[in-house]
Amino acid sequence: MEPISQQEIPDEILKSLGDIHQIIFPRQGHTSDVGVVYSMKGIAVLKRTRSKQFNEWLKRESYILDSLSNSQLPVPKVFDFVEKTHQNDEIHAWLLMEYLQGETLRSIMFNEYDSNTRYNIIFDFGRKLRELHTTPCPVELKSSGNWLDHMLTQAKYYLDHYNVDGTPQLLEELITNKPKEFKQTLIHGDFTIDNVLVHEGRISGIIDWSGGAYGDPRYDVSLAIRPKQKIFQSLSDHKAFFDGYGEKIITHEEYHYFAEGLYEFF
Ligand SMILES: Nc1ncnc2c1ncn2[C@@H]1O[C@H](COP(=O)(O)OP(=O)(O)OP(=O)(O)O)[C@@H](O)[C@H]1O
Ligand SMILES: [Mg+2]
Repeated sequence: MEPISQQEIPDEILKSLGDIHQIIFPRQGHTSDVGVVYSMKGIAVLKRTRSKQFNEWLKRESYILDSLSNSQLPVPKVFDFVEKTHQNDEIHAWLLMEYLQGETLRSIMFNEYDSNTRYNIIFDFGRKLRELHTTPCPVELKSSGNWLDHMLTQAKYYLDHYNVDGTPQLLEELITNKPKEFKQTLIHGDFTIDNVLVHEGRISGIIDWSGGAYGDPRYDVSLAIRPKQKIFQSLSDHKAFFDGYGEKIITHEEYHYFAEGLYEFF
């Protein structure tokens, strides 16, 4: 079954695409349907969500991508964002954006055994994250409050209203054992090996920005280096990452707090 069929696509978006030749579906995430659309106008990516929570995330992603469009970061340009009510009153959100070349870091590393090439790619992964953290945060993303406090409030809301991996006990622990304050920067908010694209051995794209914020860069670093099948299983991958990032900004406890604690609610 196809996650997005041409009949469902809103007219506004069909108009900007022109005739569609083909839609290809990459490995799908949990919150959205994503299609790479080959049309008269070229290649674009269409991302669709269909619940209140995920529609809000997609709207935020579109807002963040717009606010970063003048930065040096490799993020897709937004072509269109549309919310549309269907016959059954379900509201879908649609984001049409630029297609960035490359494959996810996860899929690239799965088949990469040359230690030199691995080092260079993971080094670049760390370096790109450093670039992200030193990019001036657009004013429209700078909320006045503390990012971690906001995340803990949201975690409580998600725990009460949605299905999350975190438990009430874990949330209590996170609230009482907050790590020491750290300088806030622009952050991605979901900086995993699935949300970074690689082309010809270099990081070519950073996607999936709904968690973008003025926040704690230790969160991005923690999510980036989580051990996964065939990556970050060894000290050499960690070394490559931090060589690229330039600095080890997290302790073991802080890694645990963010990657095995806070992330369980999102
Ligand atoms: N702008 C883009 N250019 C090229 N490929 C893209 C682009 N956006 C998304 N993709 C492809 O689609 C896949 C899913 O996209 P994305 O990560 O934005 O959504 P998601 O994973 O479903 O979202 P979530 O992680 O919130 O569930 C990506 O892994 C990538 O392969
Ligand atoms: Mg994703």
